[in-house]
Amino acid sequence: MLNFIKTIARDAGALIVRERSSFTSDFKANSELVTSADLSADRFICAAIRARFPDHIILAEESAPDISRLHKTDRPVWIIDPIDGTVNYAHGHYQVAISIAYVEDGDIHSGVVYNPFLDELFSAQREVGAWLNDEPVRVGGQTDLRRCLIATGFPYAKDNLAPLIRRLALILENCADVRRLGSAALDICWVAMGRLDGYYETLSVWDFAAAQLIAREAGATCGHFQEVPAGVNPVFHNENILIANPVLFPQLRKLLQAADV
Ligand code: IPD
Ligand code: CA
Ligand code: CA
Repeated sequence: MLNFIKTIARDAGALIVRERSSFTSDFKANSELVTSADLSADRFICAAIRARFPDHIILAEESAPDISRLHKTDRPVWIIDPIDGTVNYAHGHYQVAISIAYVEDGDIHSGVVYNPFLDELFSAQREVGAWLNDEPVRVGGQTDLRRCLIATGFPYAKDNLAPLIRRLALILENCADVRRLGSAALDICWVAMGRLDGYYETLSVWDFAAAQLIAREAGATCGHFQEVPAGVNPVFHNENILIANPVLFPQLRKLLQAADV
C-alpha cells in the first residue's frame, strides 16, 4: 500500500512541477486561493485510487471535501490534499506538498507527504516507522522551551485573529523563534525529523492526516492543546492541534492554554 501511495504522490508531484509555468488562479467562495494545478493533481490522485480501489471512500480537498463521509462509513477512506501550500505554489516558493493518507478502522494506516520541489518524500506506516526518502526519521530532542523553534499558521478567514495573536505573543515571549512556512503538512513532517521543535494550528483534516502519522511514528506526541469534545475521534479532530516531542508537548500545551484564559 505504501509503495502505491508513494508512486501516485511522486506522479502528482511531477504534474504540479510541470504546471508551475502555466497554471491559472481562482478564488473559492471564502476567498481562498485555488490554482488549476490543485484541480489537476486532485483529479489525477482520485482517478488513480478509484482505478485500483473502486469501493473505497475518497475525501479530497478540491473534488470531495464533505468530511461527514469520513465518519459515516466502515469502508477504507483516503484523505487527500492535492497541494498543501497553494499560496506558496502560486508565489513561486518551494514549501509545497502532496498529502495522501489511507485510513482503516478509524485510524491512519499509511501516509505520504511529498515535496516535489525538494524531492523530499516523507512516509509512514502505522506501527512500522516513518521515513524521509529511505532514511528513518526521529523527532528532535530539544527539551528547553527557550531554545525551541515553533511553527504555526493562520487561517484564510481573518474574522477572528485575536486569540491567534495572543497565542503567538506567548510563544514569541517564551520560545526561541517562530516560523510560518505555509504548508501545515510539511510543518508537521519537519517536527517529525527535527527541523522544527513544535507546531500548533487549527486545520482541515486533509492538511494533517498523513503528516500526523509520520510525526507519531517518528516519536512525536500528536494531540491538542484544548479538550477534544466527547465522542470525537482525536485522530481526526482538527482544532487546536499540537505536535512536539513528549517532553515539550505538555510545556507548549500549558503555554497555549494560558493564552486562551
Ligand atoms: C493551508 C496550509 C497552511 C495552513 C492553512 C492551510 P492549503 O493549506 O497548510 O500552512 O496555515 O491553514 O489551509 O490551502 O495550501 O492546502
Ligand atoms: Ca492544505
Ligand atoms: Ca490544498
